[in-house]
Amino acid sequence: MSALHAVTGDDPAIRIDVHLAQGTERRLAEDVLDGLTRPFKEIPPKHFYDSRGSELFDAICELPEYYPTRTETAILDASADAIAAVTGARELVELGSGSTAKARRLLDAMGSANGTEDLRYVPVDVSERVVREAASELVDDYPGLTVHGVVGDFERHLPQIPASDDAPRLVALLGGTIGNFTPGSRRRLLRDIAGLLGPQDHFLLGTDLVKDPEVIEAAYNDSAGITAEFNRNVLHVMNRELGADFDPAAFEHVAFFDREHEWIEMRLRAREAMRVHVADLHLDIGFEAREEMRTEVSAKFTRQRLERDFAVAGLELRDWHTDRDEAFAVSLAGRRGA
Ligand code: AVJ
Repeated sequence: MSALHAVTGDDPAIRIDVHLAQGTERRLAEDVLDGLTRPFKEIPPKHFYDSRGSELFDAICELPEYYPTRTETAILDASADAIAAVTGARELVELGSGSTAKARRLLDAMGSANGTEDLRYVPVDVSERVVREAASELVDDYPGLTVHGVVGDFERHLPQIPASDDAPRLVALLGGTIGNFTPGSRRRLLRDIAGLLGPQDHFLLGTDLVKDPEVIEAAYNDSAGITAEFNRNVLHVMNRELGADFDPAAFEHVAFFDREHEWIEMRLRAREAMRVHVADLHLDIGFEAREEMRTEVSAKFTRQRLERDFAVAGLELRDWHTDRDEAFAVSLAGRRGA
């Protein structure tokens, strides 16, 4: 059970439900205890994103080698009006919302298609600050918009997303975030998302696409070393949140395209043998020299594979928006048969 506290500020256009107690640290402890005591160590990528990690990620999005963000933005610029027209959406639910850049593009289009009166935005993010800032920015800029923010983890808190009171709904999962899920949990997530959709609702999904491995690998091995810092940030997070004593400089950034699974894998490789203590967990962990710990998978898609994933989840592809180079895709899906 998640403890809910609704926070209602002065602004009647804003409501925020908080389903995560203090950030994400309870789940971090469980993930670290589980992940660092396995034969092949692993920490889930969601723990990169404290405020420093979020800043590093924003910096990654500006890197010349990192094409996904700017490509998705260009696709949304070109396609938002068509998406708004096809869906007739009056409510935007954005999973892992982060900054308001993408929401603005979609809300602009929804507003020009059918007016801004009675538009609703439901940002879902693990960061209370992110949800709060998005809410106050957007109600200022979009008269008639109401924001019902959900501070939560979309892997656990989809059932807590408020009902859509019959307005056509667009649920968005953008940025290629779905790539962080391995195939089984990806399909489970898609099935859960399908459960948020009525017959008139739609799902908008951003996915990075399979392409020349050199192009993909460059995006995760930038020459400025920002991705390496982002990768090591999970060590800072464990040090701060769990009293661990990782020396981030003792770990090397590794990122490579796994051609069999068609995903990028990021790892941290111990430069030498060492022991690490995690005080809050009473845990002592040994690393061998060159031992690697997996910190992220980022799956790359083909249209065909996505259509299969959608089918398994009870969804069907309705529209496929991509750039000229087919580097990235924004898919519009609906419930199968609806
Ligand atoms: C936010 C998961 C889409 O996988 O490209 C960027 C995260 N990791 N550089 C991605 C990330 C390294 C990003 N996603």
